[in-house]
Amino acid sequence: MNAGEDIKVRAYAPGDRDAVRRISRDSAFAGLAPHGMGKEEWLADALTLYFTDFEPHSSFVAVRGDEVLGYVTGAVDGGRMRRVTRRHIVPRVIGKFITSGFLCGASRRRLVGEGLRCWVQGEFRRPGFRRAYPAELHINLDAGARRRGAGRRLITAFTEYARAQGVIGVQVSVLSDPARDFFKAQGFAVLYQTERTFLQKTRDEKSPWYIMGKKLT
Ligand SMILES: CC(C)(COP(=O)(O)OP(=O)(O)OC[C@H]1O[C@@H](n2cnc3c(N)ncnc32)[C@H](O)[C@@H]1OP(=O)(O)O)[C@@H](O)C(=O)NCCC(=O)NCCS
Repeated sequence: MNAGEDIKVRAYAPGDRDAVRRISRDSAFAGLAPHGMGKEEWLADALTLYFTDFEPHSSFVAVRGDEVLGYVTGAVDGGRMRRVTRRHIVPRVIGKFITSGFLCGASRRRLVGEGLRCWVQGEFRRPGFRRAYPAELHINLDAGARRRGAGRRLITAFTEYARAQGVIGVQVSVLSDPARDFFKAQGFAVLYQTERTFLQKTRDEKSPWYIMGKKLT
């Protein structure tokens, strides 16, 4: 059997929801989520709730048998995604965050303080690119399922789906150089590039941050 031949890609189904949430937490911040953050339900809500509960038909999963190994979650209209997120998801994430006890610890409070500092300094601001690249996606695979062609097939599944919906372009936010190289190999180009200092105190280095896009016409 060829590498990756046992891994299939199919449309997301409601029964995949828990696996998608787990993988999103495990791989948050390029797998370097600090201080047990990867166990937090509010984090899974922030990363996946829009896709699983408000636009589930635009996502795909990589599976081996019944086991979900990875996903691409997508939104064909990034503007709608942000409106729904602001209205329905942000209040829920804030509520869960406050009651989670996450802030009971000096190092976690420092991390949140760092996040606020970066936000106030405008580090999370970015150009939109929404007119030419209206769709957005996120992709993550379990560590053991990488470099076996599943990522490429997930991207193809989403881009073919989006093209069939008449979408003219797709963009993705990328937080590591290996992921940037993966997207380049899938025909994406770097549209915008900067650095985030948000996790610098936990990683001892700045995080690269790329917005990458692919035209679908
Ligand atoms: C990035 C990711 C989705 C790629 O999926 P994958 O299944 O490992 O990638 P594939 O096997 O389909 O790779 C296809 C091609 O992309 C390129 N590529 C993939 N990973 C690469 C890497 N780390 N560095 C350089 N090129 C890479 C190669 O050209 C590869 O073809 P090859 O294996 O024949 O050389 C996956 O590794 C992952 O989930 N990583 C952790 C989370 C992450 O970074 N997500 C993206 C955040 S936006």
